[in-house]
Amino acid sequence: MIDLSGKTALVTGASRGIGEATAKVLDRAGARLLLSGRTVEDLERVAAELTQPATVLVADLSQPGSGTELAQRVLATTGGVDILVNNAGIPMRRTPSQLTEADVDEVFAINVRALVMLTVALGPSMAARGGGSVINVSSVAAIRGPLGRVAYAGTKGAVDAMTRALAADLGPVGIRVNSVAPGIITTAIWEQSRRSVPGLIEDLAEQVALKRWGSAEDVADTVLFFASDLSRYVTGETLGVDGGMGKVGASPCPTS
Ligand SMILES: NC(=O)c1ccc[n+]([C@@H]2O[C@H](COP(=O)([O-])OP(=O)(O)OC[C@H]3O[C@@H](n4cnc5c(N)ncnc54)[C@H](OP(=O)(O)O)[C@@H]3O)[C@@H](O)[C@H]2O)c1
Repeated sequence: MIDLSGKTALVTGASRGIGEATAKVLDRAGARLLLSGRTVEDLERVAAELTQPATVLVADLSQPGSGTELAQRVLATTGGVDILVNNAGIPMRRTPSQLTEADVDEVFAINVRALVMLTVALGPSMAARGGGSVINVSSVAAIRGPLGRVAYAGTKGAVDAMTRALAADLGPVGIRVNSVAPGIITTAIWEQSRRSVPGLIEDLAEQVALKRWGSAEDVADTVLFFASDLSRYVTGETLGVDGGMGKVGASPCPTS
């Protein structure tokens, strides 16, 4: 059994979806949680559902300086963290003709800038605690070339590249940095299109080797692996949590 008692973990985007499931999995493993997002009511609901008292830190990570400011509040509250889950993110679905410079700035601000600034600001405190684990939430979009999400795909490619570069910078002080790359996961990000696009649920499931959408818990359990000592000699890696969507051919193919 994985035991994270005595560890402190910050999860961004903890108010729903993958972040909420991750907070709950880390809490059940014994970690003390700091929950971040924009919506205080949702964060307080998640906090109330944990087994241990948690701290809610409201932050809009689209704003300049917000990653550094959130880190400062974490340091003032707990003195630092052992586990950092950089999960907050937005999808930015746009065709190339719809995409604006403001869209690109917004999605890079949340998915990339805040992630790196929060990580580098918390790094020294993690090192002072003897090391730690950073888990970045990437996407299958980083390797698969999705239609209508060019800027989003760019942010997730950046997340994976920064995961490797941060692993190099922070490895010598005992901090491991890895990313998980979800495929199609049934969260609020898909709510509207799952309702409004006919056949979407079945069409996308067909592209997955395991023939089903993933759950937020499927991703959270992989984050738990990276947060724990089970992955103590793993850093700079990106692990797909996608039922095979990224690397496994799932289309029907003649066998004779
Ligand atoms: N679901 C999928 O199929 C899928 C696939 C691949 C990758 N991912 C990645 O997984 C991560 C979580 O996605 P999800 O599916 O769980 O989405 P979600 O249910 O929409 O949750 C997104 C979280 O990010 C927070 N957030 C959004 N904008 C923010 C901002 N400006 N500042 C601070 N927090 C913000 C949201 O909280 P507030 O609204 O309260 O701020 C929420 O907690 C994202 O990085 C996403 O790119 C998801």
